[in-house]
Amino acid sequence: IKEEGLAKIAACESLHDLQELRVLYLGKKGPIQEVMKSMKDLPKEERPAFGQQVNEVKTMFADAIEERKQVLEIKEMEEKIEKEKIDITLDGQKPNLGNLHPLMLIQQEIEDLFIGLGYTVAEGPEVEEDFYNFERANIPKDHPARDMQDTFYINEEELLRTHTTAVQMRQLEYYAKQNCHLPIKVICPGKVYRRDDDDATHSHQFMQCEGLVVAEGITLSDLKGTLEFLAQKMFGESRTIRFRPSYFQFTEPSVEVDVSCHVCGGKGCPVCKGTGWIEILGAGMVHPNVLRMAGYDPEKCSGFAFGVGIERVAMLKYGITDIRNFYTNDLRFLKTFNRFE
Ligand code: PHE
Repeated sequence: IKEEGLAKIAACESLHDLQELRVLYLGKKGPIQEVMKSMKDLPKEERPAFGQQVNEVKTMFADAIEERKQVLEIKEMEEKIEKEKIDITLDGQKPNLGNLHPLMLIQQEIEDLFIGLGYTVAEGPEVEEDFYNFERANIPKDHPARDMQDTFYINEEELLRTHTTAVQMRQLEYYAKQNCHLPIKVICPGKVYRRDDDDATHSHQFMQCEGLVVAEGITLSDLKGTLEFLAQKMFGESRTIRFRPSYFQFTEPSVEVDVSCHVCGGKGCPVCKGTGWIEILGAGMVHPNVLRMAGYDPEKCSGFAFGVGIERVAMLKYGITDIRNFYTNDLRFLKTFNRFE
């Protein structure tokens, strides 16, 4: 029994089998117990020596099992480590991260610039009331200026906003309700809609970011300084801007703003069609009627407003020639704006 047991224990290959051997040799039913039972048949004087001998074998088994157990445990651990080993030198699988749309990048860049100047960012509904899109912007019903912005009408009173000037009109009203709180410094980014046929430079839906400042003693030179700051931060410190007279119903005077050409620096080249300038936005001094309609006294305060097309800025900044690239969402195009790759 002794030889056989020890051999079995030594050859045992798993902790599970070892546990079975333990039950067999040290438990209540097994060859050892059988032998113990036969002790009663022995003469009395032989029993102690016999018992001692059996106990010695039992202890040997217990020791052998314990020893084997330790060996098997280590072996099992090693196998586990081997199996779960990670090869950290292998190339990982790159998670497919999305990225912000280029128009959103430009919008955020503009927002950051103006937040730095103490502006707040305001949004408004895309399905807008005629009242805020036109009436409050000094464009009464049946006025020919409405034709300038071919409008998607939903019904008599509602339309898809044609400019985020509508949000500015809401902001004017919002601050008027707070005792004509001044100064107002706000930018309004968002989608706008016009009935244009889509081509390389037109889209029936595009994005604007308009800005509005109203306070005591605001002048055209405040507007110029602000827009120069914008142009230089967006396009480079060496850029300059110029104003050309223009017309908007809600500003007086109104200006068209050009930024100096990045290619020739203002001397004239094919990119700027020889003029040295590239048109980027419309702006002006808030029309007294607009202030009055919102409840402000144009004798006591004045303001400027500007509206920049986000696509236009993105196209100039990134050298994109077809506005449709922004809306067809070809991943090969969008991925080029991924800052994480
Ligand atoms: N709302 C004008 C547009 O859509 C832009 C603009 C905004 C002009 C503010 C002057 C002042 O073209």
